[in-house]
Amino acid sequence: MLAFILTICIVLGAFPTLATATCTLQNLQDASSAYLSSVSAGTPSASLSKASYKENNKDANITTGLLSKQMKIDHNKTLFDTTLCATYSELIITNPKAPYVIGTQVHLDDSGGVALVDTIWTSTGDWQFNATKSLSLILKEDWNPIPVAQRDTRATIQAAADAYLDLWSQNATKPVVPWGIPCDRMEGSAYTGKGTDTDSCNVGIPAGNEPPNIDRRYVIDETMGSVSVLCVFQTMANAADSHEIKLEGGKIRYVHTMTAFKSAMAIGESA
Ligand SMILES: *[C@@H]1O[C@H](CO)[C@@H](O)[C@H](O)[C@H]1NC(C)=O
Ligand SMILES: *[C@@H]1O[C@H](CO)[C@@H](O)[C@H](O)[C@H]1NC(C)=O
Ligand SMILES: *[C@@H]1O[C@H](CO)[C@@H](O)[C@H](O)[C@H]1NC(C)=O
Ligand SMILES: *[C@@H]1O[C@H](CO)[C@@H](O)[C@H](O)[C@H]1NC(C)=O
Repeated sequence: MLAFILTICIVLGAFPTLATATCTLQNLQDASSAYLSSVSAGTPSASLSKASYKENNKDANITTGLLSKQMKIDHNKTLFDTTLCATYSELIITNPKAPYVIGTQVHLDDSGGVALVDTIWTSTGDWQFNATKSLSLILKEDWNPIPVAQRDTRATIQAAADAYLDLWSQNATKPVVPWGIPCDRMEGSAYTGKGTDTDSCNVGIPAGNEPPNIDRRYVIDETMGSVSVLCVFQTMANAADSHEIKLEGGKIRYVHTMTAFKSAMAIGESA
């Protein structure tokens, strides 16, 4: 996987007119490592301290927000997007006194510095929240890289996520979602999967006529066949939301969602 991304970076590096020319895998790995170390340390590392910072779609202060809480990370996995020059990390913290499931995008600037840390976090009381259960479910899934010959394009991966997120606001025009079989969806810790070859994610799907999911921010990793989308779920009190979707062979294999519904309600946004 690393060799593949490295190859892309070298190829892109040979054509400095491309916008991505300054983005290296090393920049991305450094940024995600700095983010993870900051979470473990409970203080933002130097490379993050001047970045713009958002928590659950609101501007926040990186020195006093979630990154000021020291956490023992029980699970992490990261997507690397060398085109948009950004990473996405999924974290689970099972500490019973302060459990969290966190989805964070780190966006870099043209010189490889951290420009934005964009975090969706959920905890006790949020939609279907149970960090221990989420961890046990994720550990049974296969989030390994996709074999080189079977990788989908960025466009295919993004289109699948957009079609999925358009299900809420579908009216006359129905989005075409490339459902896979099997497919397993974890919403908070609620799981559609039964562990069979016929598991489907095409269950409990909204009928439409709801407000759209807007302000979508993407991180796309063709090597992992995965995309992270952070957005505003207007239909759930404008809650901050994270969807991570993994495709295999053009079809959706896994969906992970985090919806900060409790914090949306707490700040009094209208449903
Ligand atoms: C963030 O909080 C720290 C500590 O309270 C404070 O010194 C700093 O000025 C704040 N930053 C901003 C941008 O408000
Ligand atoms: C992130 O996960 C990797 C692989 O599972 C592990 O080796 C690493 O120590 C974890 N990092 C942190 C900061 O927990
Ligand atoms: C969370 O899920 C675990 C199963 O993984 C269960 O034992 C536990 O009771 C659940 N906790 C809550 C608060 O529902
Ligand atoms: C579908 O209808 C809902 C509710 O009226 C609306 O909010 C949404 O924008 C519509 N979707 C599209 C794609 O026009």
